[in-house]
Amino acid sequence: MLDVSQLEGGKQVLLVGEGNFSFTISLLMKIADSTKSPISAKLISSCFQKYRNLSNTVKENARFACTLGAEVWFGIDATSLHQHERFKNEKFDFIVFNFPHVGGKMKIHLNRLLLKNFFRAKWNTI
Ligand SMILES: C[S@@+](CC[C@H](N)C(=O)[O-])C[C@H]1O[C@@H](n2cnc3c(N)ncnc32)[C@H](O)[C@@H]1O
Repeated sequence: MLDVSQLEGGKQVLLVGEGNFSFTISLLMKIADSTKSPISAKLISSCFQKYRNLSNTVKENARFACTLGAEVWFGIDATSLHQHERFKNEKFDFIVFNFPHVGGKMKIHLNRLLLKNFFRAKWNTI
């Protein structure tokens, strides 16, 4: 559970596997609301899908998240963060992957693999 008070003091936060960026927006609004001042936390938010494959609603949400202060990336694989130019040399205070899931049903082995590879990649970025 992420408490917004933990993000004070310019903390670096990376969100991966975002779906429609609603969590990103809620978090940014909550930070702004709780501090009553400009957001000091650095929030980078990302989704697995490439921009061209997103619905217009998700694209709009991503744009809104940017106006609220997020840096938004598309097509980010949470299992290879340590190889990505943007993330490989960056250290984060928090890396959040809410409800990680590969999609579909009865793919528990693939979901386990997703988590295993995410934790492995994440280990290099904290
Ligand atoms: C159940 S949805 C949760 C979406 C969002 N995190 C939320 O809490 O609403 C699972 C998400 O995991 C993402 N995902 C699956 N494999 C991924 C991977 N290798 N890297 C990043 N995201 C991945 C999917 O694209 C999907 O958005």
